[in-house]
Amino acid sequence: MPKKLKQKKEMVRSPKGMRDMLVADIRYKEKILEKAREIAEFYGFQPIKTPHLEHTELFERPLGDASDVVEKQMYTLKTKGGDSLTLRPEGTAPIVRAYAENGMVSWPHPVKLYYSGSFFRHENPQKGRLREFHQFGIELLGDHDAIMDALAIKVLYLAITELGLKNILVHINSIGDRVCRPQYKKELTAYYRKKINYICKDCKRRLKDNPLRLLDCKDPGCQEQKAGAPQMVDFLCEECKTHFREVLEFLDEAGIPYTLDHNLVRGFDYYGRTVFELFLERGAKEKGQEKEKIDAVEAKPENGAAEEPSSIALGGGGRYDELMYILGGRPLPAAGGGLGVERIIHEMKLAEISPKIPPEPKVFLIQIGPAAKKRSFMLLEEMRKAGIGVGESLSRDNLRTQLNIAAKVGAKISLILGQKEAMTDSIILRYMDEGVQETVLQKKMVERIKEKLKKMPRTARVAALPEIKPSEPEAIS
Ligand code: HAM
Repeated sequence: MPKKLKQKKEMVRSPKGMRDMLVADIRYKEKILEKAREIAEFYGFQPIKTPHLEHTELFERPLGDASDVVEKQMYTLKTKGGDSLTLRPEGTAPIVRAYAENGMVSWPHPVKLYYSGSFFRHENPQKGRLREFHQFGIELLGDHDAIMDALAIKVLYLAITELGLKNILVHINSIGDRVCRPQYKKELTAYYRKKINYICKDCKRRLKDNPLRLLDCKDPGCQEQKAGAPQMVDFLCEECKTHFREVLEFLDEAGIPYTLDHNLVRGFDYYGRTVFELFLERGAKEKGQEKEKIDAVEAKPENGAAEEPSSIALGGGGRYDELMYILGGRPLPAAGGGLGVERIIHEMKLAEISPKIPPEPKVFLIQIGPAAKKRSFMLLEEMRKAGIGVGESLSRDNLRTQLNIAAKVGAKISLILGQKEAMTDSIILRYMDEGVQETVLQKKMVERIKEKLKKMPRTARVAALPEIKPSEPEAIS
């Protein structure tokens, strides 16, 4: 007797922090990207797509050797030819590279671009923080004007709020430029040197590489020291001050709620002047009360308690006038920002906002017998080309079963194709609500269905959409 196979292999699983996106989340993602694209296109942004893999040096210097992303989070591989390539951890540096490489300098300025796709960071997977995540991003290249910073914020803010999310607050700061930042860094370093025994190990190292990052530290000990630290706003040069004031004035004008966040520095070295984050503030606090700003992500482990953090960053960005220069090109003023798609999906679900729901087909094809089954393909194709959505259950053979499915999906017309109809090139149209049916020739099928559908009352879901009627042209005298 053959021995029974005892081997019990473990099924291969997806890599940690990377997951499949199933239909429900894809419908949410579609809704988010559709809304974001619609607003971006209105404001003159054009689509762009860059590769998932880039030369490692594209990220190293611009993001900063001391940044978390470059230090510990990049997926880097060596090619057979010896090149070092990195899975893109963010989208801004690739866009600036693409600007230079594709001669966009000769395009009308500012060059406004939008993009979406997967990004990769080898993070500690926690709630709201994945190793592969999706972003929608916009970049405005080639303009100093403060209205560009405000426009980036506005587009991202509108996308989130028009999806139905509430309590969105923009945290904003200016981290100055090459002229004024060095003096601030000096003061900040001097302050933290005195506190060296109270800050974490990482911050001791950051003090040498990039003291601004100390303001970003989530360690409770470091948080305490932050309170007495000097603030960048007191060191801004006249130009940076004016620029920042103008950005805030544009936000006021646009009615976008914001709060000045003196500790906001963001994680990448390429930023200068404006930096911002769009927070969803849960359980908004009373006006004037100090906000409890928790980075969702640091605060809650993935498999931990279901409790939600008090606020979560759904997006972020800023101005990056020196990025092109860091990459070896001529300086190019620019600003932009990105939205985290998975975090928005999570918040939409919590707020019970529905995803994009494709309309249910109102027609259902039922086939009985081998000849009818064969004919089904041709008829389905005919209806697809005519733009009629059709449901089917091609693997079933039983009339009752198929009629039940048709009723379940709410079909208004069932098309019944039996052996006899297949032979006579005809088909039965059964009107489900009325319980009546008629037989028509297959070549008349599309025309008849269209006629009937036109007369049918709209379903609740469709009826909920506003009907757009062309307005009467006004008489010109
Ligand atoms: P970022 O703040 O690193 O900025 O990312 C933007 C948004 O992506 C975050 O606010 C967050 O919602 C989401 N996000 C970031 N990391 C993760 C993660 N590990 N898992 C899930 N969601 C995440 C940038 O990437 C800049 N390139 C944005 C920008 C564009 N700045 C100027 N232009």
